[in-house]
Parts: sequence; structure tokens; C-alpha cells
Amino acid sequence: MILRGTLINYAMSALRPLITEAQIQTRIAELGRQIDSDYPDGTLYLICILKGACFFLADLARAIHRDTFIDFMGISSYGGGKTSSGEVRVTKDLDISVQGADLLIVEDIIDSGVTLNYLTQLLQQRRPRSVRIATLLDKPERRLRPVDVAYVGFQIPDEFVVGYGLDHAERYRNLRDVCVLEP
Ligand code: IMP
Ligand code: MG
Repeated sequence: MILRGTLINYAMSALRPLITEAQIQTRIAELGRQIDSDYPDGTLYLICILKGACFFLADLARAIHRDTFIDFMGISSYGGGKTSSGEVRVTKDLDISVQGADLLIVEDIIDSGVTLNYLTQLLQQRRPRSVRIATLLDKPERRLRPVDVAYVGFQIPDEFVVGYGLDHAERYRNLRDVCVLEP
């Protein structure tokens, strides 16, 4: 079990596995099939939100069997704590033009919805053909701003999670399972 090693490496904090690596991979394969059938033609632009979504992007992109562009966008809304600052900042913009494109925003988790509510509006201004969101995790209980999410990996309760890209103050991103970081 991966957590054995994990607990040794991160002995200072208690990590409780919530979603295993195998469950994540099974769900991503399902999402890939759904996305393949929802976008029958044309190029799909995958927009990965740094940094948390990079592992999800890598696996989801390979579960999609069609022409894709991949680009990255840096968004900061959190600082070092566990709650949203409510302020959204673009720290790295896209390299490619998205005018007329089918965009799929790839995100790690939707919590208050502040980040994606802002980002969706920002990308809409660039006149894409369509904008949809794929998120690995969703905490619907915490929503403050409305977000229309097309693809959700897992709905989770209101707990702070790390692993598979998700961090707490930049740590734990390399855990293979999604784990609850116990207080
Ligand atoms: P929102 O703007 O509140 O929806 O926050 C979205 C961002 O907050 C995500 O992209 C994550 O970077 C971060 N975030 C929210 N909840 C968690 C969590 O449980 N663990 C790690 N990061 C989180
Ligand atoms: Mg994020």
C-alpha cells in the first residue's frame, strides 16, 4: 500500500486516504470516454490550471482519443492557508489564442467556485466556440459563486484534501492517492 511509505515520509501530519490511485484511474477512463463522445470532431483545447491540475491533465489527456492542444494557465487565489482569499490573480496566461476553439478547463478541485467563476468569464471574453469545465474533485457544499461543471471526477465532503496534485502550502502533491489532511 502506498500509504505506508507516505506516512513515513510525512510523519508530521496525519493523512487519511479518501480516493485511491486505482479509483482515480478508473474514473478518468470513464471521463475520457464521455469527453470523446461529447466532442465528435475538431480540436479540443485542454487548459490546465496550474499547479494542482497537472497530474489530472496528464492522465485525462491520455484518456481522450482525439486531436488536442494543451496549454497551461496559472491562477492564484489561495496563499498558503486552507481557505480562499477570495482574490483571483492570473500568474501565467495562455500561450495560444483560443478564439473559435472548444475549450475544456482542467481543474483539480472546485471549492468556493470563486476561481472558476472568474476564469470562465475571462476566457469567454476571448470568444471561444465553447467553454466547459472538467474537475477531478468537487466540494459542492462550499460553493459561494455559481459554476457550471460538465465533468466531475468525484464529489467529496467539506474536508481539506491533498495528493494527486493537490497541495497544502506546496506539499503533498506527489502522493498517489487523494488523502484528507487531518487537522
Ligand atoms: P475555489 O476558488 O474556492 O473554488 O478554490 C479552488 C482552488 O482552491 C483549487 O484550485 C485548489 O487549488 C484550492 N483548494 C480548494 N480546496 C482544496 C483542498 O481541499 N485541498 C487543496 N487545495 C484546495
Ligand atoms: Mg487549483
